[in-house]
Amino acid sequence: MAEQVLDAPRQTQPSLRRRLLAFLLIPVGVLLLLDALLTYGVALAYSNRIHDRDLSSDAESLAELLQDNRLDGALSPQARFLLEYDPDGRSFFSVRSSLHGLLEQNASFPQVAAPKAGNAPVLFDSRLGPHSLRAAIISIHPQANPADTLTISVAETLQDRHRRAREILLLAVPLQSLLIVAVLSLVWFGVNYGLRVLQPLTERLAAREHDLTPIGEADVPMEILPLTRTIDGLFARLRGTLELHERFIADAAHQLRTPLAGLILHVEGAVQDDDPERLRDALGHIRQLTLRTARTCAQLLALTRAQSPLTLPATHLPVDLARLVPETVGLRVSEALAAEVDLGYEGTPGPLRVDGDPSSLQELLDNLIDNALRYAGRGSHVTVGLVPLPGDGVRLRVEDDGPGVPDALLARLGERFFRAPDATDMGTGLGLAIVERIAEWHGARVSYHNRTPHGLQVDVQFPPAMMV
Ligand SMILES: Nc1ncnc2c1ncn2[C@@H]1O[C@H](COP(=O)(O)OP(=O)(O)OP(=O)(O)O)[C@@H](O)[C@H]1O
Ligand SMILES: [Mg+2]
Repeated sequence: MAEQVLDAPRQTQPSLRRRLLAFLLIPVGVLLLLDALLTYGVALAYSNRIHDRDLSSDAESLAELLQDNRLDGALSPQARFLLEYDPDGRSFFSVRSSLHGLLEQNASFPQVAAPKAGNAPVLFDSRLGPHSLRAAIISIHPQANPADTLTISVAETLQDRHRRAREILLLAVPLQSLLIVAVLSLVWFGVNYGLRVLQPLTERLAAREHDLTPIGEADVPMEILPLTRTIDGLFARLRGTLELHERFIADAAHQLRTPLAGLILHVEGAVQDDDPERLRDALGHIRQLTLRTARTCAQLLALTRAQSPLTLPATHLPVDLARLVPETVGLRVSEALAAEVDLGYEGTPGPLRVDGDPSSLQELLDNLIDNALRYAGRGSHVTVGLVPLPGDGVRLRVEDDGPGVPDALLARLGERFFRAPDATDMGTGLGLAIVERIAEWHGARVSYHNRTPHGLQVDVQFPPAMMV
């Protein structure tokens, strides 16, 4: 057992580490993606701000340069050079005069209304064919001809803005990835270190051979407590089952020793005896002792079955006592007739349901009828009755008009191996213990009363059925 516990775990087994990492890696991957999108958005906003500022100042510089332009329908060579300087082919402009119309342009893109001369440039979005543009527009009155109004528009594609945002992103993402890898490594080491806390418990359990004492709560991490408590519960049930088996073996050895010794004695006597009369007498004893041994075995097994969670049915079924009880009584009528006992059944019409196991209930009733037939004696009356109780419970009653049990001993009925001092020698003293265990499993209560003027009455009160 110890070796099995220490065996290396198989790859197919669920792993706490793998699970934790999978749970962390997927959300962290998604987070990284979101973070990259966010970083790109922020970088683009930043890049837009810078480029907008540059565009405005370009428009203002141009306006300043064109202040001195002698406007006779053409631009000075310096102004033309500045306007046309476009190494990337991504800048566009137009200069329009209110008196001379369009003076110069390298592209025609939709524009917004120009601001008043002397005001700051206005920024706006525009398009040129498939390209999106960002543009600035400004108006001035040139000094050479204050009556004229020059409207200068400059525009650029968005490529540079996106390039700058990408550059920022490419700088930020590797750093963030590094940070995440560092965090994941820490988590990995943390998990490994945390799992080491289970080592003492694993070793303590591995060192056990047949020890079923509780694991207890010392050195058990809080998160593992539900597991160890469940195992302790299992250990407790196993201890109960083992105790039951040990008790069965001890009881069987004790109860069978006397009849078996008697059997050996009578068999040896008979083997050496030729007298037919004494031989028949010995055979009679042997028969009695064999019957007693068989009864003891059957009752011991029945009691162990009624107590053991391994043999009791796993679930309760709906059982109609109004059918099962008269049927069971019917099966005992011929035996009652042979014993000269008047066995009868009294019930009410309609079903009387309880939750349980039909064969166990039959065993319970058989034991009660058995006692009544055996101890009430010849000429007595035994009645088995069923009555519905208020609140849907059912009461099963077996009563006889035999001698009953001395009042002082009533409380001991149901004890294992208890027999009244005057009881016949055919019993084992286990019947009522079996009855009580079966009743307990059904949630029923057993009570014993002496009747007036004489006789015993045994009541079994069943709780209301929960199943339909
Ligand atoms: N109806 C009864 N009238 C008088 N005494 C009874 C009656 N039922 C039970 N007893 C007494 O209670 C004792 C215990 O009964 P129980 O059924 O547990 O064991 P048993 O009948 O002796 O053996 P067995 O295990 O074979 O049933 C009996 O030995 C008997 O003395
Ligand atoms: Mg009995």
